Amino acid sequence: MACMTSTPHHILGIDIGGSGVKGAPVDLQTGALTGSRIRIPTPKKSTPKACASVVAKIVEEFRSEIGDSPIGITLPAPVVHGVVPMMANLDQAWVGVNAEKLFSDQLGRRVVLVNDADAAGLAEVRFGAAKGRSGVVIVTTLGTGIGSALINDGVLVPNTELGHLEIGGHDAETRASASAKAREKLSYPRWSKRLQLYYSTVEKLFWPDLFVVGGGVSARHERFLPQLKLRTPIVPAMLLNQAGIVGAAAVADARYPVPESVAGASARASEPNDPALWDTPA
Ligand code: BGC
Repeated sequence: MACMTSTPHHILGIDIGGSGVKGAPVDLQTGALTGSRIRIPTPKKSTPKACASVVAKIVEEFRSEIGDSPIGITLPAPVVHGVVPMMANLDQAWVGVNAEKLFSDQLGRRVVLVNDADAAGLAEVRFGAAKGRSGVVIVTTLGTGIGSALINDGVLVPNTELGHLEIGGHDAETRASASAKAREKLSYPRWSKRLQLYYSTVEKLFWPDLFVVGGGVSARHERFLPQLKLRTPIVPAMLLNQAGIVGAAAVADARYPVPESVAGASARASEPNDPALWDTPA
């Protein structure tokens, strides 16, 4: 049977970003990557076709580990039923394309496409900084753009796109993303002032219980998070630049769960009502 070739709970997650396409299989019981991550630079002309051939290379590298299991892929754009309605930081050729179908046809396997920040948000809620937190959690990613995930009691409201809030006449991410900091050579104190305006606007609109801040720059969170004066607790992400990969894999697994009949005996034995427990020595 074809699906016997896949390793249960090891699902490939691929994160397509403005500068790199990264991928690794993920153990969805722990949220850990099961092997070393592969990173290939995003093609200069970052069209769907060009990105799909980079994705195909990554899939090929992990073929023996993932068998024919579904894969999850993130994009730095909203994804509405597989379609990309707008694109801020990759080629405009994505707009209007059913990219989920395109990837699936190209790779000959089941693909689930998800917004990058939504994937990161789900990963932080399941395995990271927001694990066990109820209520409204907003995960933001500070990178080329600003991504957002809005999660209430573990349930995601997809495609919130809070990086594009208009604040003071500007698209917020053009002023407050990590790339704006780099482009304008802003010091951490000056950038923090922009982040203060951004997060205080978001909290006024959504009244969240927690902010989680991800993206590569969150590794230096002590340089800017303590400067922010907010009503809402604000904490750094825990999964750093792996959150997109982990969340993509989680979303693929949620849409196409591994059938119980092919899940490993060890996974079954850990379930409290599994008949296999009768055989466990006392
Ligand atoms: C995009 C979002 C994305 C964010 C982070 C924004 O420009 O519109 O969809 O989540 O960048 O990559």
